[in-house]
Amino acid sequence: KARRIITLDGPAGAGKTSVSRRVAGELALAYLDTGAMFRGLALRLGPQGHLLPEAAIDAALADIVFSLSGCGSDTRLLLNGEALPDAARTEEVGARASKLAALPVVRRRLKLAQQALGRETDLLAEGRDMGTAVFPEAAHKFFLDASPEVRAARRVRQLAALGRPQDYETILAAIRSRDHDDRNRLVAPLCAAPDALVIDTSAMTEDAVVARIVAAVGT
Ligand code: C5P
Repeated sequence: KARRIITLDGPAGAGKTSVSRRVAGELALAYLDTGAMFRGLALRLGPQGHLLPEAAIDAALADIVFSLSGCGSDTRLLLNGEALPDAARTEEVGARASKLAALPVVRRRLKLAQQALGRETDLLAEGRDMGTAVFPEAAHKFFLDASPEVRAARRVRQLAALGRPQDYETILAAIRSRDHDDRNRLVAPLCAAPDALVIDTSAMTEDAVVARIVAAVGT
């Protein structure tokens, strides 16, 4: 039977991850953090991973089994049975993930893995191209956006909470550069699907964003 899929895309720091977890909890869907797949690959391949030959990257990808455990807000993405370490949440690993994300071999493999997970269970899929490239038939699509300044300030708070303090200007520059790469790559660039509901979260509380999405799905 066709699974129920809801997609949530947007740039770094738009609040996707915390909003997705809560919406998945309220709607009793599994939650798929696709950024974690790119980050996990970046960790495995090391700092120069994007420069490796295509065959080596393909082989590394073929070696990773992605699975989901739990459901709702407690869903965890596992790579060969293990959760992504906190070390993968830094901007540095995010930037490396973004470089890998521009490679067709990476997009092809991860898209197949994402679609396979979407056949196993109902999903809230979060990322950059969920509504455009991976699940174009999704029942509901959302695109969260916010100004780069607001997104940088949120990331600074998140990283501090993870015990990895970083200064605002550094994060703002990193977010701008990652946005530029994500929006301008040739394969599956970051953009809102024509049928996505775009929500600018700059001046909204997280509660308001969650309520807006849950209401839209319910109607
Ligand atoms: O969302 P997160 O910041 O964890 O994603 C890290 C990077 O992975 C993004 O900057 C983007 O380049 C890439 N990504 C992607 N497509 C996705 C999810 C993440 O290209 N669906």
